Amino acid sequence: MGVIASAPAKVILFGEHFVVYGEPAIVLAIDKRAYAKAELRDDKRLYLRSVNLNLAGYFENGIFNVEQGNAKEAKLKFEPLKLAVEKVLEIHGENVGLNIEVNSTVPVAAGLGSSAAVAAAVTAAVGALLNVKMSKEDVFRISFEAERSVHGTPSGVDPAVSTFGGTLLFQMDTGFKPLDIKADVPLVIGDTGVERSTRVQVAKVRGVRDKYPRVVEPMIRTAREIVLRAIDALKENDLETLGDLMNINHALLCGLGVSDESLEWLINAARKAGALGAKLTGAGGGGCMIALAENERLEQVLEAIQRAGGRAFIAKKTDEGVRVEQT
Ligand code: PMV
Repeated sequence: MGVIASAPAKVILFGEHFVVYGEPAIVLAIDKRAYAKAELRDDKRLYLRSVNLNLAGYFENGIFNVEQGNAKEAKLKFEPLKLAVEKVLEIHGENVGLNIEVNSTVPVAAGLGSSAAVAAAVTAAVGALLNVKMSKEDVFRISFEAERSVHGTPSGVDPAVSTFGGTLLFQMDTGFKPLDIKADVPLVIGDTGVERSTRVQVAKVRGVRDKYPRVVEPMIRTAREIVLRAIDALKENDLETLGDLMNINHALLCGLGVSDESLEWLINAARKAGALGAKLTGAGGGGCMIALAENERLEQVLEAIQRAGGRAFIAKKTDEGVRVEQT
């Protein structure tokens, strides 16, 4: 008998990059989820398997042994999950062997927070299997620690959205604040398939800012105004304004040099197909773009992005954070 838990992926709706300079960003949980199944084993091994990445292996006495796929890649993916499991076992107070199977519908390394969603799902599944009393704050704290072990200094926004769901306003000095948004925010997400590094893109923006401070400072202030205006538009369900603001936000990011040809193709295709607005999401330089469209236009925008060479899917905002699916 196993326990399954799941957690959602995220998109940054507004404010990426500017958030690094202390400005607010708006982040949404989307209805693409990562699933984790936890089962007890008779021995003390921690056995991990990722169905979608075709990776499997186990930790025994701290040593990793690969059973499927590339050993280095498997260790890199599983190490943070081991850390999360150990944290839950610490609260449980007893070391037990476990089988963990991860099955995620979230594209990997595309800026959608797949690793945080997986970590939150694994934490919740193991917690529920062992009857460990854990609040959402506990799940957040543990999955944040797991993220930190891979990413160095992440903002924590990915594990927060994966754990709590919904729409969050995030700012470096004040942290997360849930936004009570009733609007649907119908999005199409287009994945360029171009791998990018958040670190490289953040450094690129810093270079432009250092070279042209008086040009870039007003852009940063504009990004703040976009977010403030977007909060009102979200509350009023004013999709047209949201679309305009997405286009303006994208222009700023483009000006800073973090868009690329692959993103521009998909963004232009989405706009031509009737999207209300489109922008890159996350670090840029590849990865994903998002387009906002009226419900009846979503399919058209989806097809246009696909014709332009992107892997696309329709995504809705979800208020459901981490949850146990089945006990
Ligand atoms: O693409 P992601 O999910 O790694 O998002 C990066 C967001 C940035 O604002 C560019 C960097 C950051 O740490 O906030």
